[in-house]
Amino acid sequence: MKIGIFDSGLGGLTVLKTMLKKYPHNEYIYYGDTLNVPYGNKTKEELLTLAINDIEFLVSKQVDMIIIACGTISSTHYQYLLTKYSIPIYDIISPTIKYLNQSSFKHIGIIATHNTISSHIFKNSIDKEVFEIETPKLVPLIENNQLDNLDSILSEYLNPYKNNLDCLVLGCTHYPIILDNINKYFSNTIPIIDMSNYLFDNLTNNTKSKLTIYFSKITPMIISNTKRILNNDKINIKLSS
Ligand code: DGL
Repeated sequence: MKIGIFDSGLGGLTVLKTMLKKYPHNEYIYYGDTLNVPYGNKTKEELLTLAINDIEFLVSKQVDMIIIACGTISSTHYQYLLTKYSIPIYDIISPTIKYLNQSSFKHIGIIATHNTISSHIFKNSIDKEVFEIETPKLVPLIENNQLDNLDSILSEYLNPYKNNLDCLVLGCTHYPIILDNINKYFSNTIPIIDMSNYLFDNLTNNTKSKLTIYFSKITPMIISNTKRILNNDKINIKLSS
């Protein structure tokens, strides 16, 4: 099976990493739209154009299925994209919502981009107390590897909620990259939910393993961040056009 995965930039690599661990014997094509990152504050119209471009790129690589490894696109345009394409497309948010509804958590914190939070996708679909927390500064800092003030930024965002949460959901796929800082903030007292863990229960493993990573813009920092996130020095990184 040839699996296409896309995101605005580096975030979807956390989804790719989970997939590679769970289902190593597949062919993966990753596409990160680093030319247009971040997606979190773009208009709905801009997001739709970008999502269509991302999907068409992966379709041109003849993938058999597509994973939207981007909370922002998943929360805004997933239903429309399902009707537009006949290729199987999976979003990153609905499996996590299903898991949260079945879980025993009662007070759930969600951190995500402006667009994801303003869609209220989590609040509207989860029948529990949900705290939606917009954290727009995080994606640019993660993309640019500017993590020096991260702990104080996390405190600024999370202090009002700290003592009310049973768990914290990383509603943006960039955030598992800073999981250590988030765990440190909570002193490991609550579970931090990485959405990629709930994507599939049993996908078929093939025998062939192959990975190609495309970005719409490549810089030395993007290359080194990719290698660090995937913990792999020998990956094949290409420019998308
Ligand atoms: N990683 C994406 C998400 O899950 C996109 C974030 C962004 O580009 O702002 O929302």
